[in-house]
Amino acid sequence: MRILAIESSCDETAAAYLEVDRAKIKRLEHIVSSQLIHAKYGGVVPEVAARAHAETMPKLLAALAKKVVGSEDGEKLGKKIDVVAATRGPGLVTSLRVGLDTARALAIAWRKKLVGVNHIEGHIYANWLGNKTLQAASPKKIFPALILVVSGGHTELLLMKDHGDHRLLGATRDDASGEAFDKSAKLMGLGYPGGPAISRLAAKGNPFAVDFPRPMLHEANYDFSFSGLKTAVRYFIDDHRDKMSDSQFTADLAASVEQAIVEVLVAKTIRAARDTGAKTLMLAGGVAANKKLRIMLAAATAEKLPNVAFMEPPLEYCTDNAAMIAMAAAYRALAKDFKQPSKTDVDPNWELGRM
Ligand code: KG4
Ligand code: ZN
Repeated sequence: MRILAIESSCDETAAAYLEVDRAKIKRLEHIVSSQLIHAKYGGVVPEVAARAHAETMPKLLAALAKKVVGSEDGEKLGKKIDVVAATRGPGLVTSLRVGLDTARALAIAWRKKLVGVNHIEGHIYANWLGNKTLQAASPKKIFPALILVVSGGHTELLLMKDHGDHRLLGATRDDASGEAFDKSAKLMGLGYPGGPAISRLAAKGNPFAVDFPRPMLHEANYDFSFSGLKTAVRYFIDDHRDKMSDSQFTADLAASVEQAIVEVLVAKTIRAARDTGAKTLMLAGGVAANKKLRIMLAAATAEKLPNVAFMEPPLEYCTDNAAMIAMAAAYRALAKDFKQPSKTDVDPNWELGRM
């Protein structure tokens, strides 16, 4: 099966070509174009994002065609494709619309099957890219899998019982963990996106220098809350304005913020994996690129749940991309979950697994 996938839910315009034999990857080409324009606003501006997607999409598809068929010949590309896929939600409504409407038009023009992908499910399937064992494994070997979803807009624990079968165990009650990184970075004057900036600075700092709150760490549920951390960081900076030009001081601050976020994520994930008897534990979403989170969660799994297999997506596929959307689309297509191109629409609030 040969899939063309498009992702445009937030501020990355992305396209991918995936060739699979069942779920085994034979060929994968992908391109991501990040919208740098939002950096000056310190966050994503929806209307600006949608316009940038619309401007970039044709160029991106032409570049993908060149990679796949050696020229910008769209007809040649179309002849190779069996399924056209795009992210249908969750995300920014006008941004989603650019990607999905492009896919709908291509599916009609090329007379192909159309698949609508959930963006969070895409992040989960980033684990499959680069992992041949997962691509070949029978569902019985992998599921139930406990997934920690950590992105710019989402922080949740999902139990995946099978392909396409999710249960939401808990979620953040306010800010997502990516937002906690982004907002703390903004307060520190580090720019957007803040996660990579905080984690680079944190590498030189003492993670126990400042004792920030660990919200909901000991509560017997699978929910999170990160808005209090942002407030604590704001007060701390207000109280130490004179020290904010000291590079060791800011490194210690960054390391302490990162430690507070990661500690809560790891503790709650391990508890959920134990309670649910998960066979596999997976990371998903942009914050999965965080080195400290990867190391601490792998170590905690090995120590506390030695029979659980820990998996993390390749770094290249943690933040938004279309390769992960193509992989998720492959499983949707195997399940014959197709949409009618003339009728389907975006679903900006599509939640995975809420009962
Ligand atoms: O999944 P993603 O690309 O977009 C959404 O679907 O939201 O996630 C973006 C988020 C941003 O909040 C960004 O700061 C965070 O992922 N992020 C990181 C790192 N790389 C990206 N957070 C912490 N450490 C990182 N290395
Ligand atoms: Zn994402």
